[in-house]
Amino acid sequence: MKRDLTSIFDLDVSEIYKIFELTKEMKEKLKKRIEHKLLSDRTLAMIFEKPSLRTRVTFETGMEQLGGHAIYLAPSDIKLGKRESIPDVAKNLSRWVDLIMARVFEHQSIKLLAQHATVPVINGLCDLEHPCQILGDIFTITEKAGGLDNITIAYIGDGNNVCNSLIAASALLKFRLNIATPEGFEPNQDYLNKASQAQLTHNPAAAVADADFIYTDVWASMGQEAEAEKRKIIFRPFQVNAQLLSNAKKDYRIMHCLPAHRGEEISGEVIDGPASIVFDQAENRLHIQKGIMVWLMLDK
Ligand code: CP
Ligand code: NVA
Repeated sequence: MKRDLTSIFDLDVSEIYKIFELTKEMKEKLKKRIEHKLLSDRTLAMIFEKPSLRTRVTFETGMEQLGGHAIYLAPSDIKLGKRESIPDVAKNLSRWVDLIMARVFEHQSIKLLAQHATVPVINGLCDLEHPCQILGDIFTITEKAGGLDNITIAYIGDGNNVCNSLIAASALLKFRLNIATPEGFEPNQDYLNKASQAQLTHNPAAAVADADFIYTDVWASMGQEAEAEKRKIIFRPFQVNAQLLSNAKKDYRIMHCLPAHRGEEISGEVIDGPASIVFDQAENRLHIQKGIMVWLMLDK
Protein backbone atom coordinates (compact mmCIF):
# COMPACT_ATOMS: atom_id res chain seq x y z
CA MET A 1 0.00 0.00 0.00
CA LYS A 2 1.28 3.49 -0.80
CA ARG A 3 2.23 5.74 2.11
CA ASP A 4 1.98 9.52 2.42
CA LEU A 5 3.64 12.12 4.63
CA THR A 6 0.77 14.50 5.36
CA SER A 7 1.70 14.85 9.05
CA ILE A 8 4.49 13.74 11.39
CA PHE A 9 1.77 11.55 12.93
CA ASP A 10 1.72 9.49 9.69
CA LEU A 11 5.01 7.97 10.89
CA ASP A 12 5.91 5.79 13.84
CA VAL A 13 9.14 6.10 15.81
CA SER A 14 11.01 3.35 13.98
CA GLU A 15 10.02 4.85 10.62
CA ILE A 16 11.38 8.26 11.67
CA TYR A 17 14.70 6.66 12.65
CA LYS A 18 14.74 4.71 9.38
CA ILE A 19 14.33 8.02 7.50
CA PHE A 20 17.15 9.54 9.61
CA GLU A 21 19.38 6.57 8.71
CA LEU A 22 18.68 7.06 5.00
CA THR A 23 19.23 10.82 5.40
CA LYS A 24 22.64 10.27 7.00
CA GLU A 25 23.59 7.97 4.15
CA MET A 26 22.36 10.51 1.54
CA LYS A 27 24.34 13.28 3.21
CA GLU A 28 27.57 11.28 3.51
CA LYS A 29 27.37 10.09 -0.10
CA LEU A 30 26.75 13.62 -1.36
CA LYS A 31 29.72 14.99 0.62
CA LYS A 32 31.91 12.28 -0.95
CA ARG A 33 30.29 12.83 -4.35
CA ILE A 34 29.30 9.18 -4.53
CA GLU A 35 26.47 8.88 -7.03
CA HIS A 36 23.45 6.81 -6.06
CA LYS A 37 20.69 7.29 -8.57
CA LEU A 38 18.10 5.50 -6.44
CA LEU A 39 15.17 7.29 -8.08
CA SER A 40 16.32 7.25 -11.70
CA ASP A 41 13.46 7.84 -14.13
CA ARG A 42 11.11 8.83 -11.29
CA THR A 43 9.23 12.11 -11.49
CA LEU A 44 8.11 14.37 -8.65
CA ALA A 45 5.33 16.93 -9.16
CA MET A 46 5.66 19.94 -6.85
CA ILE A 47 2.45 21.90 -6.31
CA PHE A 48 2.83 25.34 -4.72
CA GLU A 49 -0.05 27.52 -3.55
CA LYS A 50 2.45 29.75 -1.69
CA PRO A 51 6.02 31.05 -2.25
CA SER A 52 9.12 29.05 -1.31
CA LEU A 53 12.92 29.14 -1.48
CA ARG A 54 14.07 26.18 0.58
CA THR A 55 11.29 23.69 -0.11
CA ARG A 56 11.35 24.20 -3.85
CA VAL A 57 15.13 24.21 -4.29
CA THR A 58 15.78 21.28 -1.95
CA PHE A 59 13.10 19.01 -3.42
CA GLU A 60 14.13 19.84 -6.99
CA THR A 61 17.85 19.49 -6.30
CA GLY A 62 17.30 16.36 -4.22
CA MET A 63 15.31 14.66 -6.95
CA GLU A 64 17.96 15.56 -9.52
CA GLN A 65 20.73 14.15 -7.29
CA LEU A 66 18.74 10.91 -6.99
CA GLY A 67 18.60 10.63 -10.79
CA GLY A 68 14.97 11.71 -11.09
CA HIS A 69 13.15 14.74 -12.33
CA ALA A 70 10.99 17.37 -10.59
CA ILE A 71 8.28 19.57 -12.11
CA TYR A 72 7.53 22.90 -10.45
CA LEU A 73 3.85 23.84 -10.62
CA ALA A 74 3.44 27.47 -9.59
CA PRO A 75 0.35 28.81 -7.81
CA SER A 76 -0.95 30.18 -11.11
CA ASP A 77 -0.45 26.89 -13.03
CA ILE A 78 -2.96 24.60 -11.36
CA LYS A 79 -5.13 26.92 -9.28
CA LEU A 80 -5.84 23.96 -7.02
CA GLY A 81 -9.55 23.47 -6.44
CA LYS A 82 -10.46 26.41 -8.67
CA ARG A 83 -9.41 25.54 -12.22
CA GLU A 84 -9.78 21.85 -11.40
CA SER A 85 -10.95 19.92 -8.34
CA ILE A 86 -8.32 18.55 -5.96
CA PRO A 87 -9.40 14.91 -6.55
CA ASP A 88 -9.07 15.41 -10.33
CA VAL A 89 -5.61 16.99 -9.94
CA ALA A 90 -4.55 14.02 -7.77
CA LYS A 91 -5.93 11.46 -10.26
CA ASN A 92 -4.31 13.14 -13.28
CA LEU A 93 -0.90 13.52 -11.66
CA SER A 94 -0.99 9.89 -10.47
CA ARG A 95 -1.13 8.74 -14.12
CA TRP A 96 2.09 10.61 -15.01
CA VAL A 97 4.33 11.06 -11.98
CA ASP A 98 5.63 8.85 -9.16
CA LEU A 99 5.40 11.27 -6.26
CA ILE A 100 3.56 14.50 -5.36
CA MET A 101 4.73 17.22 -2.99
CA ALA A 102 2.31 20.03 -2.21
CA ARG A 103 2.49 23.32 -0.30
CA VAL A 104 -1.09 24.41 0.33
CA PHE A 105 -3.17 26.72 2.47
CA GLU A 106 -5.46 24.15 4.08
CA HIS A 107 -4.50 20.80 5.57
CA GLN A 108 -7.71 19.42 4.07
CA SER A 109 -6.22 20.00 0.58
CA ILE A 110 -3.27 17.75 1.46
CA LYS A 111 -5.64 15.12 2.87
CA LEU A 112 -7.75 15.23 -0.31
CA LEU A 113 -4.68 14.93 -2.54
CA ALA A 114 -3.45 11.96 -0.51
CA GLN A 115 -6.88 10.32 -0.55
CA HIS A 116 -7.27 10.53 -4.32
CA ALA A 117 -3.67 10.07 -5.50
CA THR A 118 -2.41 6.55 -6.10
CA VAL A 119 1.18 7.80 -5.60
CA PRO A 120 2.67 9.07 -2.30
CA VAL A 121 1.86 12.64 -1.29
CA ILE A 122 4.25 14.75 0.81
CA ASN A 123 3.10 17.82 2.76
CA GLY A 124 5.45 20.69 1.90
CA LEU A 125 3.66 22.97 4.45
CA CYS A 126 0.03 23.71 5.17
CA ASP A 127 -1.82 25.63 7.90
CA LEU A 128 -1.57 22.68 10.31
CA GLU A 129 1.95 21.26 9.80
CA HIS A 130 5.36 21.49 8.18
CA PRO A 131 6.56 17.89 8.60
CA CYS A 132 9.60 17.96 6.27
CA GLN A 133 10.92 20.99 8.13
CA ILE A 134 10.63 19.40 11.55
CA LEU A 135 12.03 16.03 10.47
CA GLY A 136 15.05 17.91 9.06
CA ASP A 137 15.33 19.97 12.24
CA ILE A 138 15.21 16.97 14.57
CA PHE A 139 17.81 15.29 12.37
CA THR A 140 19.95 18.45 12.77
CA ILE A 141 19.52 18.26 16.55
CA THR A 142 20.62 14.63 16.59
CA GLU A 143 23.74 15.62 14.64
CA LYS A 144 24.57 18.41 17.09
CA ALA A 145 23.66 16.61 20.32
CA GLY A 146 24.45 13.01 19.35
CA GLY A 147 20.84 11.94 19.98
CA LEU A 148 17.67 13.10 21.68
CA ASP A 149 18.29 11.80 25.21
CA ASN A 150 17.80 14.55 27.82
CA ILE A 151 17.22 17.18 25.14
CA THR A 152 14.92 20.13 25.82
CA ILE A 153 13.69 22.31 22.98
CA ALA A 154 12.00 25.68 23.58
CA TYR A 155 9.68 27.07 20.92
CA ILE A 156 8.99 30.80 21.30
CA GLY A 157 6.36 32.70 19.31
CA ASP A 158 3.33 31.75 17.24
CA GLY A 159 1.62 28.39 17.80
CA ASN A 160 1.71 27.72 14.05
CA ASN A 161 2.35 24.88 11.58
CA VAL A 162 6.03 24.59 12.57
CA CYS A 163 5.10 24.53 16.26
CA ASN A 164 2.44 21.83 15.68
CA SER A 165 4.90 19.59 13.83
CA LEU A 166 7.40 20.08 16.66
CA ILE A 167 4.72 18.98 19.14
CA ALA A 168 3.95 15.91 17.03
CA ALA A 169 7.67 15.06 16.94
CA SER A 170 7.84 15.46 20.72
CA ALA A 171 4.84 13.13 21.13
CA LEU A 172 6.64 10.42 19.15
CA LEU A 173 10.30 10.94 20.00
CA LYS A 174 9.77 12.00 23.63
CA PHE A 175 12.08 15.01 23.82
CA ARG A 176 10.97 17.77 26.21
CA LEU A 177 9.34 20.76 24.52
CA ASN A 178 8.65 24.09 26.23
CA ILE A 179 6.32 26.28 24.19
CA ALA A 180 5.76 29.97 24.92
CA THR A 181 3.12 31.83 22.89
CA PRO A 182 1.06 34.96 23.52
CA GLU A 183 -2.46 34.23 24.79
CA GLY A 184 -4.77 33.48 21.87
CA PHE A 185 -1.91 32.16 19.67
CA GLU A 186 -1.55 28.71 21.20
CA PRO A 187 -0.83 25.64 19.03
CA ASN A 188 -3.35 22.93 18.15
CA GLN A 189 -4.92 21.55 21.34
CA ASP A 190 -5.39 17.99 19.94
CA TYR A 191 -1.67 17.88 19.23
CA LEU A 192 -0.84 19.12 22.73
CA ASN A 193 -3.13 16.48 24.21
CA LYS A 194 -1.03 13.78 22.52
CA ALA A 195 2.33 15.13 23.67
CA SER A 196 2.93 14.51 27.36
CA GLN A 197 6.45 16.01 27.15
CA ALA A 198 5.18 19.32 25.72
CA GLN A 199 4.49 22.16 28.17
CA LEU A 200 2.68 25.34 27.21
CA THR A 201 3.35 28.68 28.91
CA HIS A 202 2.91 32.36 28.07
CA ASN A 203 6.25 33.19 29.68
CA PRO A 204 9.17 33.08 27.19
CA ALA A 205 11.84 33.52 29.90
CA ALA A 206 10.56 30.41 31.71
CA ALA A 207 10.44 28.45 28.46
CA VAL A 208 14.08 29.10 27.52
CA ALA A 209 15.49 28.53 31.04
CA ASP A 210 16.49 24.88 30.66
CA ALA A 211 16.51 24.65 26.85
CA ASP A 212 19.31 23.14 24.76
CA PHE A 213 17.74 24.31 21.50
CA ILE A 214 15.71 27.53 21.20
CA TYR A 215 13.45 27.70 18.14
CA THR A 216 11.40 30.55 16.72
CA ASP A 217 9.48 31.29 13.53
CA VAL A 218 7.78 34.29 11.93
CA TRP A 219 4.93 35.94 13.81
CA ALA A 220 2.70 36.09 10.72
CA SER A 221 2.80 33.02 8.50
CA MET A 222 2.16 33.03 4.76
CA GLY A 223 -1.50 33.92 4.30
CA GLN A 224 -1.63 36.00 7.52
CA GLU A 225 0.00 39.12 6.04
CA ALA A 226 -3.06 41.26 6.87
CA GLU A 227 -2.49 40.57 10.58
CA ALA A 228 1.25 41.29 10.51
CA GLU A 229 1.13 44.80 12.01
CA LYS A 230 -1.25 43.81 14.82
CA ARG A 231 0.88 40.76 15.59
CA LYS A 232 4.10 42.81 15.80
CA ILE A 233 2.67 44.56 18.87
CA ILE A 234 1.25 41.44 20.54
CA PHE A 235 4.35 39.31 19.94
CA ARG A 236 6.97 41.94 20.90
CA PRO A 237 7.76 40.34 24.34
CA PHE A 238 8.42 37.05 22.51
CA GLN A 239 11.37 38.26 20.43
CA VAL A 240 14.36 35.92 20.75
CA ASN A 241 17.09 38.42 21.61
CA ALA A 242 20.05 38.80 23.98
CA GLN A 243 17.82 39.92 26.81
CA LEU A 244 15.55 36.86 26.58
CA LEU A 245 18.59 34.59 26.24
CA SER A 246 20.07 35.96 29.47
CA ASN A 247 17.54 33.58 31.09
CA ALA A 248 18.90 30.54 29.20
CA LYS A 249 21.66 28.03 29.94
CA LYS A 250 25.05 28.79 28.41
CA ASP A 251 25.34 26.25 25.62
CA TYR A 252 22.01 26.73 23.82
CA ARG A 253 21.67 26.64 20.03
CA ILE A 254 19.36 28.89 18.07
CA MET A 255 16.98 27.49 15.45
CA HIS A 256 14.66 29.06 12.86
CA CYS A 257 13.01 27.41 9.87
CA LEU A 258 13.56 30.55 7.73
CA PRO A 259 12.66 32.89 6.16
CA ALA A 260 13.48 35.12 9.17
CA HIS A 261 12.45 38.66 9.91
CA ARG A 262 15.39 40.18 11.79
CA GLY A 263 14.17 42.70 14.36
CA GLU A 264 10.81 40.93 14.71
CA GLU A 265 10.77 37.35 16.03
CA ILE A 266 14.57 37.29 16.34
CA SER A 267 17.29 39.91 16.66
CA GLY A 268 20.01 40.10 14.03
CA GLU A 269 22.77 39.52 16.58
CA VAL A 270 21.14 36.27 17.71
CA ILE A 271 20.32 34.73 14.32
CA ASP A 272 23.72 35.74 12.94
CA GLY A 273 25.56 34.89 16.17
CA PRO A 274 27.75 31.89 17.08
CA ALA A 275 24.91 29.80 18.60
CA SER A 276 22.82 29.91 15.42
CA ILE A 277 22.41 26.67 13.45
CA VAL A 278 19.80 27.98 11.03
CA PHE A 279 21.80 27.29 7.87
CA ASP A 280 22.59 23.75 9.05
CA GLN A 281 18.82 23.31 9.32
CA ALA A 282 18.37 24.72 5.82
CA GLU A 283 21.06 22.41 4.42
CA ASN A 284 19.48 19.38 6.03
CA ARG A 285 16.17 20.06 4.26
CA LEU A 286 17.94 18.71 1.17
CA HIS A 287 19.19 15.55 2.85
CA ILE A 288 16.04 14.75 4.84
CA GLN A 289 13.77 15.10 1.81
CA LYS A 290 15.99 12.75 -0.17
CA GLY A 291 15.63 10.35 2.77
CA ILE A 292 11.86 10.82 2.81
CA MET A 293 11.49 10.33 -0.95
CA VAL A 294 13.67 7.21 -1.00
CA TRP A 295 11.78 5.82 2.01
CA LEU A 296 8.39 6.46 0.41
CA MET A 297 9.38 5.04 -2.98
CA LEU A 298 11.67 2.16 -2.13
CA ASP A 299 12.20 1.41 1.51
CA LYS A 300 9.07 1.46 3.58
N1 CP B 1 11.51 26.75 5.70
C1 CP B 1 10.88 26.71 4.53
O1 CP B 1 10.02 25.87 4.27
O2 CP B 1 11.30 27.64 3.62
P1 CP B 1 10.56 28.03 2.26
O3 CP B 1 9.26 28.68 2.63
O4 CP B 1 11.49 28.99 1.57
O5 CP B 1 10.33 26.79 1.45
N1 NVA C 1 5.14 29.39 9.67
C1 NVA C 1 5.74 29.81 8.42
C2 NVA C 1 6.78 28.84 7.98
C3 NVA C 1 7.49 29.19 6.71
C4 NVA C 1 8.45 28.14 6.25
C5 NVA C 1 4.65 29.96 7.37
O1 NVA C 1 3.74 29.13 7.34
O2 NVA C 1 4.71 30.92 6.60
